[in-house]
Amino acid sequence: MEQQSELQEPTYAADISSIREAQIRIEPYIHKTPVLSSETLDVLSGKKLFFKAECFQKGGAFKFRGACNAIFSLDDVSVAKGVVTHSSGNHAAAVSLAAKLRGIPAYIVIPKNAPKCKVENVKRYGGQVFWSEPTVQSRELTASKVQEETGALLVHPYNHEHIISGQGTISLELLDQVPNIDTIIVPISGGGLISGVALAAKAINPAIRVLAAEPSGADDAHQSKLAGKVVVLSEINTIADGLRASLGSLTWPVVRDLVDDVITVDDWEIIEAMRMCYEILKVAVEPSGAIGLAAILSDKFRSNPAWKSSSNIGIVLSGGNVDLGILWDSLKK
Ligand SMILES: Cc1ncc(COP(=O)(O)O)c(C=O)c1O
Repeated sequence: MEQQSELQEPTYAADISSIREAQIRIEPYIHKTPVLSSETLDVLSGKKLFFKAECFQKGGAFKFRGACNAIFSLDDVSVAKGVVTHSSGNHAAAVSLAAKLRGIPAYIVIPKNAPKCKVENVKRYGGQVFWSEPTVQSRELTASKVQEETGALLVHPYNHEHIISGQGTISLELLDQVPNIDTIIVPISGGGLISGVALAAKAINPAIRVLAAEPSGADDAHQSKLAGKVVVLSEINTIADGLRASLGSLTWPVVRDLVDDVITVDDWEIIEAMRMCYEILKVAVEPSGAIGLAAILSDKFRSNPAWKSSSNIGIVLSGGNVDLGILWDSLKK
């Protein structure tokens, strides 16, 4: 008799149960962020837009969800010597704050070109700063040296199952706040955010479309989807300082299978979207956080097959940590 081959469900680093567990674990510490809307932006985009304002999350970015989940998942013995991470800023501040709440030290490796306000956030939350060169290799090497010296545990910014589950709580909240969303657009860098969002959203409603928004000067996710394998760029050029990393071994399978498409935008489109966030929504959003709006307003989205079938779009405004120094100086003149 012919043996029936069983179709195996692919397994990913997180799933709806781990994301629901994360929600319970982090609920006492995080802010439930509001969903904003604007008739002006609805008219401009031709869609109903729902902005999940993670710029109002503690630490000023969604990163606190994942960091909190990772740090509060660990037992007392494992975290006794503290945690170490490398990050261009938002994850760094999130880990510092979560470690402070857990009562353990945080050692933070930050590239020299990180925005000043993000470094200030790390210091404010008590993280100890170690500088690295602005390359992934230098960040990782410095972090492993610090790890050896301190015995601290590494909390990777995105290639980490608890980080992915923590970020996925955004979908649980958003779909509870606006159940009829049919499309969610999410900034992508290492892919921790979009992996969590896609795993949760598609488990709740498989028909929900998940789109990634990526700078054209750092379009490794776009190229990876086309190539069917992880592409690492040799050169990166974008104003979006949170979107310069490459996909990881845990995030790539989710991006490959569950992210419906990647919309790339130029830096001028990101800057224009930031201006709209300030002027119309009245919120401070950093370049990496405004890219979802930039993508929805772009010509590329209008010519994408997703355009026609998207009516109610969730946009993750992922962070609000922007250096206002130059703007402030210009006002003083
Ligand atoms: C504000 C902001 N948005 C989006 C991202 C991208 O997140 P991920 O690396 O999980 O794709 C980052 C990463 O640092 C970020 O700081």
